[in-house]
Amino acid sequence: MKKYTLYATMGAGFEAVVAKELKELGYETKTENGRVFFEGTQEDIVRTNLWLRTADRIKILLQEFRATSFEQLYDQVYSFSWADLLPVDAQFPVQGRAVRSKLHSEPDIQSITKKAIVNKMVDQYHRRGFLPETGNKYPLDVHIYKDVARISLDTTGESLFKRGYRVEHGGAPLKENFGAGLLRLTPYNGTHPLIDPMTGSGTLAIEAALMAKNIAPGTWRKFAYDGFDWFDSSLHKTMLEEASTKVKPLEAPIWASDIDQSVLEIAKLNAHNAGVLQDIRFKQVAVKDFTTDLENGIIIANPPYGKRLKDRESAEKLYQEMGKVFLPMDSFSQYYLTADQNFEKYFGKKATKKRKLFNGNLRVDFYQYWVNKK
Ligand SMILES: C[S@@+](CC[C@H](N)C(=O)[O-])C[C@H]1O[C@@H](n2cnc3c(N)ncnc32)[C@H](O)[C@@H]1O
Repeated sequence: MKKYTLYATMGAGFEAVVAKELKELGYETKTENGRVFFEGTQEDIVRTNLWLRTADRIKILLQEFRATSFEQLYDQVYSFSWADLLPVDAQFPVQGRAVRSKLHSEPDIQSITKKAIVNKMVDQYHRRGFLPETGNKYPLDVHIYKDVARISLDTTGESLFKRGYRVEHGGAPLKENFGAGLLRLTPYNGTHPLIDPMTGSGTLAIEAALMAKNIAPGTWRKFAYDGFDWFDSSLHKTMLEEASTKVKPLEAPIWASDIDQSVLEIAKLNAHNAGVLQDIRFKQVAVKDFTTDLENGIIIANPPYGKRLKDRESAEKLYQEMGKVFLPMDSFSQYYLTADQNFEKYFGKKATKKRKLFNGNLRVDFYQYWVNKK
């Protein structure tokens, strides 16, 4: 089977987390900023799209070359045999990006690349200057970094965070792959209890249940490769069936609570869609009234933070309540994600470790309180 140079993309700061997931799936990896490279066949494209919990997309690297002029860019792109990749009616949107390079106008990079591909296809398919672009989608991108251009085909389509179990509603849920990434920054492996006492739409609890039960996060969705005409379409079905045989029962309880009953209803619907409703104990309870008989587990939460003064005051009051209720639960490792830089002060304890992350564009900290570490 043909081997491709593949890479996973991810949010800033999650490179090592994705590399670890890939290693656990058996791949050798090479990490760069925002990308982890590995080699694989079509089967590996399906496997990684189905199983990676923390990545954004899986791409095939098609070309890599130096380009400091538009002529070079055009000639190199034209030299690729595009008709081997794209059927005559393919839709092939091209996304351009340039960082610290001589060629920096992204619209020009995009349109020159597109033009080179169109011209090559017109020549290869003997068309007269017109491609219908009415068929399946082959998302391409050209990324130039320090004058080195990379042309890639996206095998994923909509980002992997879109698992397909979430019902749309307002609020500010964590992205599913970001939630999974946070869990992977904790020692959680399903063998100890997990509590999210501010669960909102349930992302952390649901992602934890999927991990604990070894359910493939890509179970519910389609991928761009489904539309590639040279892609072996039986692989997806086979690997999905194989994944369903790997599901295991939950070993340790997962609790999810929130003060707001209406968000809990959304969380339950999401959990139902993900097939883990029976695995999570949902309960309406305010942090100040929270009690548990569970021990030796993990508390993880994404409490509200305030931008405006009034919201900040109420968030800080909540952090004080959290400190009062959760600090005495000292058999639990605790992990809190917030953009509030004064969290430790109000919570009442300095974190064992603080990790800077970006939730979208928002700079946040993941405050970690490890058991038995001062
Ligand atoms: C930022 S949201 C959590 C989003 C969640 N991680 C998700 O992915 O959907 C914060 C949640 O904390 C809840 N909350 C606020 N004050 C609370 C309190 N005193 N006790 C329990 N939950 C509270 C809110 O109702 C809200 O759902």
